[in-house]
Amino acid sequence: MRFAGDDAIARRVQAFAARLAAAKANDQYFYNRAIQELRGGARVVVGGREMGMYASYSYLGLLGHPRINAAAAAALHKYGTGTHGVRSLAGTLMLHDELEATIAEFKHAEAAITFTSGYVTNLTVISALVGRGDYVLSDKLNHASIVDGCLMSGAEFRRFKHNDMSDLEHRLQQVPDGAAMLVIADAVFSMDGDVTDLPRLAALCKQYGAYLMLDEAHSLGVLGPTGRGIEEHFGLENAIDIKMGTLSKTIPSVGGYIAGSRELIDYLRHVSRAYIFSAALAPAQAAAAQEAFKVILEEPERVQSLNRNTRLFIGGLKACGFDTLSTTTAIVPVLCGSDERAYAMTGEAQRRDVFVLPVVSPAVPEGLARLRATITAAHDPADIEQAVAVIAAAGKKIGII
Ligand SMILES: Cc1ncc(COP(=O)(O)O)c(C=O)c1O
Repeated sequence: MRFAGDDAIARRVQAFAARLAAAKANDQYFYNRAIQELRGGARVVVGGREMGMYASYSYLGLLGHPRINAAAAAALHKYGTGTHGVRSLAGTLMLHDELEATIAEFKHAEAAITFTSGYVTNLTVISALVGRGDYVLSDKLNHASIVDGCLMSGAEFRRFKHNDMSDLEHRLQQVPDGAAMLVIADAVFSMDGDVTDLPRLAALCKQYGAYLMLDEAHSLGVLGPTGRGIEEHFGLENAIDIKMGTLSKTIPSVGGYIAGSRELIDYLRHVSRAYIFSAALAPAQAAAAQEAFKVILEEPERVQSLNRNTRLFIGGLKACGFDTLSTTTAIVPVLCGSDERAYAMTGEAQRRDVFVLPVVSPAVPEGLARLRATITAAHDPADIEQAVAVIAAAGKKIGII
């Protein structure tokens, strides 16, 4: 009732309510459905039905890992459910220091700092590093948290064409002499699944004196022979100045981190507002995250299984005639075309117990709506073949292949 007036806010809320009601009435709403149960890493119960899970970010299948659960439970018993507040005052526990040391070692960096979400990490770190008069250059397909961080910073915000190093160079050349420059990209792009061209990106940053920040939300545990991420994938060391990642995807916890030089981390610890003005990561989440980094290194077969499963899934879909753009990673876009087709594909797949979700405009350009499937190490090759068969049957029915 409160939004029943004729002001701009009420009109906005009412218009959205009408859109939502129409989507639900047309069987085109698939979001916010509660998972009732996890059954192993690759199966879930949704709406009372067991389905194969093809929308999880738990890329190495670590969600529910006994060692990680035990570490979280031990921290809960030792420290309780919260912290005393913000990190700088009384919120820092030994657990936070240990987690940060573990991340620094994993990422081959001098030091690391953690925050309570990946989203907040990008927001606070970008705005702590650049401001008015500086330039921030961001790949066109970067995650919303990067875009929001750039906008919040007040720096001159320039987007370069997706993974296009000539365009980036052109934009670097346009920056006035003496202005500070920060270049930012996702390591693996969250909608398309392709890998940023780190060797050329790093070379250009060096040539033009720009700092380089990469977001490893979807590459940690995914890229590199031991899952250490994009630098390991390309055989590069210290190519990235600001190594950002999340603790909510491969790492089955919540939070975000930056790894880098000790000077950078000390600066962020005293200047980034989300560190100074927001409560510390809960003990169980910090302990779970720390244990997960150890498990990744001690169970390297998980990275191998993920790579095998990814090849199987992408290869199977391509052989059926689907366009999966240029993904080579665990994020697999299955292009459908219109939003309606993506909804129809989702409905068909879910009715046959493949839990996959659509991404439509404006999250992706109009006409490029898709299923955005994800693959994990927990899938069985036979399950993947079955999922490909279900998606192919749906694609034929709807006329996509
Ligand atoms: C590339 C990228 N960066 C940052 C985030 C935000 O991470 P979090 O969910 O940990 O807040 C996401 C989340 O999906 C992401 O895909």
